[in-house]
Amino acid sequence: MCGIVGYTGDKNCVPILMNGLTSLAYRGYDSAGVAVWEGSELTLRKAKGKIDQLQELLEESPVGGKSGIGHTRWATHGEPSDINAHPHTDTRKTLAIVHNGIIENYLHIKSMLEKNGCVFLSQTDTEVVAQLLGYLYRGNPLSALTQAVAMLEGSFALAILFADDPATIYCTCKDSPMVVGHGDGESIVASDIPALLEYTRDVCFVQDRQIAVLRREGIQYYDEFGVEIEKKTTHIDWDVESAKKGNYEHFMMKEICEEPDAFKKTFDQYVSKDFTLKSDHFPWDEAKAKRFERISIVSCGTAYHAGMLGKKFIEHMANLRVDVDIASEFRYGDTLIKSGEPFMVISQSGETADTIAALRRAKELGCETMALCNVTGSTISREAEHVLYTYAGPEIAVAATKSYLTQIIVLYLCALDLAQKRGVMTQRQVSDRLEEMSRVPASMQKILDNKEQIQFFASRSFAVKHVFFIGRGMDYALAMEAALKLKEISYIHSEAYAAGELKHGTIALIEDGSLVVALATQPELQAKVASNMEEVRVRGAHVLALTNGPWEGAKGHSHEQWEIEKMDETLAPLCAIVPMQLLAYYLAVQKGCSVDQPRNLAKSVTVE
Ligand code: M6R
Repeated sequence: MCGIVGYTGDKNCVPILMNGLTSLAYRGYDSAGVAVWEGSELTLRKAKGKIDQLQELLEESPVGGKSGIGHTRWATHGEPSDINAHPHTDTRKTLAIVHNGIIENYLHIKSMLEKNGCVFLSQTDTEVVAQLLGYLYRGNPLSALTQAVAMLEGSFALAILFADDPATIYCTCKDSPMVVGHGDGESIVASDIPALLEYTRDVCFVQDRQIAVLRREGIQYYDEFGVEIEKKTTHIDWDVESAKKGNYEHFMMKEICEEPDAFKKTFDQYVSKDFTLKSDHFPWDEAKAKRFERISIVSCGTAYHAGMLGKKFIEHMANLRVDVDIASEFRYGDTLIKSGEPFMVISQSGETADTIAALRRAKELGCETMALCNVTGSTISREAEHVLYTYAGPEIAVAATKSYLTQIIVLYLCALDLAQKRGVMTQRQVSDRLEEMSRVPASMQKILDNKEQIQFFASRSFAVKHVFFIGRGMDYALAMEAALKLKEISYIHSEAYAAGELKHGTIALIEDGSLVVALATQPELQAKVASNMEEVRVRGAHVLALTNGPWEGAKGHSHEQWEIEKMDETLAPLCAIVPMQLLAYYLAVQKGCSVDQPRNLAKSVTVE
């Protein structure tokens, strides 16, 4: 969704703001703008469209100064246009503001301001905040800000430049991420970590209604009443290069190619060199693990699909019931969860609005909350009682790839740890499995080294209109993620179906030219999947089978066979996701789609 960046320091802020906006572009946006203190006034440049349009405008009408704020907007109130683009100012131009989030009571505030003579130029809720601050401002920015924040309902991250105090950036937020950092003679704010990495890796997350005041000398923090507070910094160990595209054409391909490495990093955090689990890294001891009657998992999108696969792992290996729900359903649904029960959320960003709301609801219900999260210091990682980190590094492409992989790795390890602590598996059995698991990255690498096979398939198949991913058991959970990956980046209609469920309705959609991808990595279920492949093959579908090692049986029922190296069937999904991600990628590239920033999508869904 929207992106914020702000800079104050010794350098010209414009290239820094533009660099920051470029690094946040992956979040999705439809206009961009900057406000810069030029020495005598606040100067704005705003353009509908891509950051390149803003860059062109800046070349035609250059601006420069040592403090400024910038924004990429994803329209919510009012169409994408130059006028609706941020920054916004109040009528007297005492300040400029950028905003992420949605002000829910903006109409109420707007009508109050109109009665007091304010004239609005845009349709945005953000301009209402600008005018409100201008109305409340009596020479003390902090005081105006605390008063305004008390009046705002909804979600917001705000960065503000006051003309009377132009070397300072004032920031605040509620239910929308905001991170600040101090470098050498400069301070910087952004809505997401990648924009800060070039300046500092010691950052501070502004929490709800807190205020951060950034100056070149350092950053001061205040609570919602304007009382100064101390805050601790968090060290981010992502490096600058990991958030850059390097020689890859797309971030998505770079991130798929990083999967063997992300696998090893995540595995090493939870598993010792002698292939035993670091059992104190899991938020349950033996007594608790034995007491558990079920675990609830709640998340959105890809993270929800990871939860679905986690359910299969935990139920199969640890003999423990798992209920999985979509966060937007859970947060308003009836719930039978009891106080004290384990409740897990999964989120790459740690900032997904529905997942945060679900976590808060579970806390209210008295659950023991835990989070699987990729971003240190994010809202979810701060608010959950226990955090199991994934070590995917920064993920920039909108389509989740390595974050999904690391989520299912941690869920797999949770299943093994629960199995051992609940006495379902012996330590020896667990160690054997871990040893085999440590070889999965090498198998993945072989798929990546031969990815041209998948590219070739995509070059023949990109005109396909409908794709069905079918599978049973763990393969069905994997099929859900494979179908999402394909539809979100290639816009090809795709569905995941439990293979045995096809003939209860969906098989009516199969026609000449439909593509059916049969995930058949589970030897015990292969014969059943073979019948389902045959059912669609005889109805005209082109059938591609993905198997765990060679499977002769696939040949008669499918037109093409791809295989991953033979491995324990519970481990197979960890490897089989790679060819599915590559398939989605290559089909999208063949269709000329915007792979890293698909239409209508944002990387992190921070509004409801
Ligand atoms: O940051 P989160 O994991 O909480 O995001 C949840 C979903 O928005 C996300 O997984 C989304 O479905 C993927 N980016 C799609 O590839």
